[in-house]
Amino acid sequence: MKNIAVLVSGGGTNLQALIDAQKNGTLKNGCIACVVSSKPDAYALTRAQENGIKTRVIRKKDYETFEGYDRALKELLREVKADVIVLAGFLTILGPQVIKAFENRIINIHPSLIPAFCGEGFYGLRVHEQALMRGVKLTGATAHFVNGICDGGPIILQKAVAVKDGDTPELLQKRVMMEAEWEILPKAVSLFCEDKIKVVDGKTVLSE
Ligand code: GRF
Repeated sequence: MKNIAVLVSGGGTNLQALIDAQKNGTLKNGCIACVVSSKPDAYALTRAQENGIKTRVIRKKDYETFEGYDRALKELLREVKADVIVLAGFLTILGPQVIKAFENRIINIHPSLIPAFCGEGFYGLRVHEQALMRGVKLTGATAHFVNGICDGGPIILQKAVAVKDGDTPELLQKRVMMEAEWEILPKAVSLFCEDKIKVVDGKTVLSE
């Protein structure tokens, strides 16, 4: 059984999808061991507490240097014995120490079909605003491993979502979450926990 640490900053609907998947058995061979928030008032923390999951808060601004914060987060993740880290709406950038210590063991969910609408500055509603501005007919979500390049790590799963006439960034964000993010994030985490993901030449190979 692998220990999962989920890093959050906000509402935690992706965390909820993981909790639900754990409860209904679609998340196999993994257990959410700890929820770590960058904000003490994140609603995601309430979701964790209601489900008896251990919580921690770590804020970058409480550290004098980014290096110190990076080390403290790495130590916290080791202390909770995390085998895999899930970024579920975590708004603080990860430092090189965490990324190196957990190479190919950090999974992020991004609300577009990478490599479209990703990289520096593409987070939250901005991703959907840009997709609507470009007039794409399909968008979606991507679950991927995290490396030193923003949204540049090996892709694990993707799912497309149709853009509809009259969509606003808010409507599109909601549809992408409901139809794609909440489905592929728990699937990707389960695949990892079942040892069904290999990384070869910067790409993933998934086994049945
Ligand atoms: C999601 O849109 C996700 O794609 C992005 O941050 C948002 C998190 O929402 N990385 P929630 O906190 O899981 O509700």
